[in-house]
Amino acid sequence: MSKYQNFVAYYFSGTGNARNVATWMINFAKSKNINTFLINIDRFKKVEIPKTEGKTLIGFFSPTHGFNLPPIMLEFMSKFPRRTTETDVFIVNTRAGLKMNKLFIPGLSGLAQYFPSLILRLKGYRVVGQQPMDMPSNWISLHPGVRESVSVSMHVRCKTISEHVLDKLLTGKKVRKAWLSLPFDIAVSPVVPMYYFIGRFILAKTFVASDKCNLCGLCEKQCPVNAIIQVDKRMFWKYSCESCMRCMNQCPEKAIQTAHGFTTLGIWLASLVFTVLLTFLASKIDFFKEISELSDFVKGWVLYPIVTLTVFFLSYRFVHYLMRFTFFARLIEYTSFTKLPFWRRYKAKKSVLK
Ligand SMILES: Cc1cc2nc3c(=O)[nH]c(=O)nc-3n(C[C@H](O)[C@H](O)[C@H](O)COP(=O)(O)O)c2cc1C
Repeated sequence: MSKYQNFVAYYFSGTGNARNVATWMINFAKSKNINTFLINIDRFKKVEIPKTEGKTLIGFFSPTHGFNLPPIMLEFMSKFPRRTTETDVFIVNTRAGLKMNKLFIPGLSGLAQYFPSLILRLKGYRVVGQQPMDMPSNWISLHPGVRESVSVSMHVRCKTISEHVLDKLLTGKKVRKAWLSLPFDIAVSPVVPMYYFIGRFILAKTFVASDKCNLCGLCEKQCPVNAIIQVDKRMFWKYSCESCMRCMNQCPEKAIQTAHGFTTLGIWLASLVFTVLLTFLASKIDFFKEISELSDFVKGWVLYPIVTLTVFFLSYRFVHYLMRFTFFARLIEYTSFTKLPFWRRYKAKKSVLK
């Protein structure tokens, strides 16, 4: 007998993993004759609350980005109304799992459960479930997409786990699987604030559209945060980009690349500007002499990141301009790993285990 009459699943999903997990749970709830609502929060303007009667269980489904939930989901949760009706909540963060032979290796959540749980607790909700879900990694900027057979076996495993978790929650039991990795989560947590800036100001600025792009507009239309626009007849990624990988994995022409060559050059340039220019200026101008005498901690953790972000800020616009010239467009494209013929893309199929 279910404790809840309604189940609402809010999801954000770059490449379909979180959407698939939400869908499996919705289908399971339907099979138990529970009223269900599956809500995609892409480009949300306001929080939609379905009208229901009786007790409601709400699930939030999202990928893990930089050991946290992505800003769009955190913003959605922070705009969620305070608890007024009989409602409990749970969180599922999909992560980058691995499969080696028959062994499934989990991804790392960091604060992806604890921080959102705190937001919801402060709004008066009882967080009855915290479940990581190890789905295929979609971070194609770092590695080629997983093979189809690996993806399917991860889906099979996670579907079973999804149904088991929801079954427990519906009967009023609590699920606290997220706490099993607490020591690792604490160890990686200092990366969370750093990743926020790196994700926004550097990763979002590594995407380029090569000459293969035919301006079909699919990436622009499908971007969950409206971060892709056309500038001078070439796609341009704004700072609101979540690096969710949807554009890159869906492009029918495989025209979207991560500009690894340009990124390496940018980091090298930032170091050069930082060390050489600072030393040079310090020998000429008193103000820079004082800066160069600051402690290594301030230089390494405050000044260097500021210089790096400024270099990326200025150079992305410049690279975008240069790409109108075939030579530069090819140079950027051919110094990208994602251009390599074996570099698979990843997109979770809707049809996998419906
Ligand atoms: C920018 C980015 C950052 C990521 N950070 C993490 C992470 O910190 N820990 C982890 O286990 N997986 C991480 N991943 C992998 C995704 O969370 C994982 O593949 C997820 O299942 C994708 O879900 P989706 O298809 O719903 O977007 C990251 C992926 C991307 C693209």
